[in-house]
Amino acid sequence: MESTATHLLAGHSAIVTGASSGIGLAVAEALADAGAAVVVNYHSDAAPAEELAAKIRTAGGRAEAIGANVSEEQDVVRLFDAATEAFGRIDVLVANSGVQKDAAIADLTLADWNTVIDINLTGQFLCAREAVRRFRAQPREARPARSAGAIITMSSVHEVIPWAGHVNYAASKGGSRMLTRTLAQEVAVDGIRVNGIAPGAIRTPINEDAWGSDAALEKLLRLIPYGRIGEPEDVARAAVWLASDQADYVTGTTLFVDGGMTLYPEFRDNG
Ligand code: BGC
Repeated sequence: MESTATHLLAGHSAIVTGASSGIGLAVAEALADAGAAVVVNYHSDAAPAEELAAKIRTAGGRAEAIGANVSEEQDVVRLFDAATEAFGRIDVLVANSGVQKDAAIADLTLADWNTVIDINLTGQFLCAREAVRRFRAQPREARPARSAGAIITMSSVHEVIPWAGHVNYAASKGGSRMLTRTLAQEVAVDGIRVNGIAPGAIRTPINEDAWGSDAALEKLLRLIPYGRIGEPEDVARAAVWLASDQADYVTGTTLFVDGGMTLYPEFRDNG
């Protein structure tokens, strides 16, 4: 485990969905480095999640890899039951699971529309609902944080940037934006904080075609004022902060971690 000066998440227990690769994996590792006990959720790819959990345990942390499909109601209940059984409580949910099934509108199948909405949006709803139920039921005196629990939804710059050829994905992230804000408004009275993270182009398997060749990367960098592609750790650090008491007065907002992708870079030279 990293010897961080302060363990911002000491005593916390967290669930990270979709943590077998990419951003979810980095977030799970960073939460553990910050002192949290972590449930590393995966859907179909158990091995990397098991490996990360073992790595965290070897470093002296606490982690369990647990399989569940976030778009299935009973799976989500089982995931939270398993987390509670393992760590006694749940303080942080990072609803990260997400997929892309890209197609131009005329070719987009209903199946691919449904898959993306089910995982990216319904999955966030089901996990957030379960987190709220559990946060409300936990004894106040045992809390490791000022809040009664923190929910982080993994959104995207495409919660605000329209994206031709990806209408299912952009719609799911636009939905996540309002899910986050509406839920934050509803559960603030319970002391629960709800925020989104909107990553830009991050070097993960989901967008390898956008950075995997020099030509693609050069084209991508034109969209990023800060001049580099993001790394999963850039997002993971934001998640640790949002989950911790450092962000105790922050709720109902989205933290963009995008190197300026949402700054309309095409207007740099006066449009
Ligand atoms: C998508 C990536 C894309 C990035 C920026 C993300 O939400 O998953 O495929 O590269 O947004 O467009």
